[in-house]
Amino acid sequence: MSRQDLLEIFNTRTPAIAPSMLKCDFGNLHREVELLEAAGAPLLHLDVMDGHFVPNLTYGPVVVAGLRQLTSLPLDAHLMISQPADFLDEYLDAGCDGITVHLEAFGQDTASLIDTLARIRAADAVSGVAINPGTSVSSLDGVLEQADQVLVMSVEPGFGGQTFMPIALETLRHLDATRDPDTTLAVDGGIGPTTIGDAYQAGARVFVAGSSVFDRPDYTEAISELTATASAPGEG
Ligand code: DX5
Ligand code: ZN
Repeated sequence: MSRQDLLEIFNTRTPAIAPSMLKCDFGNLHREVELLEAAGAPLLHLDVMDGHFVPNLTYGPVVVAGLRQLTSLPLDAHLMISQPADFLDEYLDAGCDGITVHLEAFGQDTASLIDTLARIRAADAVSGVAINPGTSVSSLDGVLEQADQVLVMSVEPGFGGQTFMPIALETLRHLDATRDPDTTLAVDGGIGPTTIGDAYQAGARVFVAGSSVFDRPDYTEAISELTATASAPGEG
């Protein structure tokens, strides 16, 4: 899928629920993907963790390439790894349609972050920058021109099943008020029926959902309820 195709999904399938492939049954990935496709998931969110940038370890390009064989759904990788620029090509080659890197992984080296986002775009993938709950939104100054997507973390990255942190709403509101209209705002962490409405009101349009999809027996119900709740009048 081209960058433009995934941007089109962001623009037309809103609100987009992106199941987080952190909480799925890895013993039965094929079945999980089939169920998510049948449930109408517009894309899959891939949580890549290295045990260094975050205190947890998940999977790498080999598993992403395996998933690529199983589905034509867009694969949006959230790289929670140190030195993401060094591994970019591996994730692009594995078939990612979007790649999000953490601002915090670049320290003060904003030039390298901007260069990395430009490399993602040059590979015809959607570029994303993630920002942790404690990071000042001013750190994104000068970066947003190269970012198709900003992933606002509403938990400390590393684990699923955490409680939504309302500080993310302030970050979303600020970005929503100042962003380029082509930049998509996504939110990740603790998104469920009681938090998704507030995040939508604050400007998020892509909603990463781990527990609120995978802890439910019926993914179709979970995704359609979250989609409906996000933009329901009076919610949040
Ligand atoms: C956390 C990950 C999230 C997480 C979301 O580091 O980036 O994508 O899996 O899980 P829930 O929805 O359970 O908070
Ligand atoms: Zn994530």
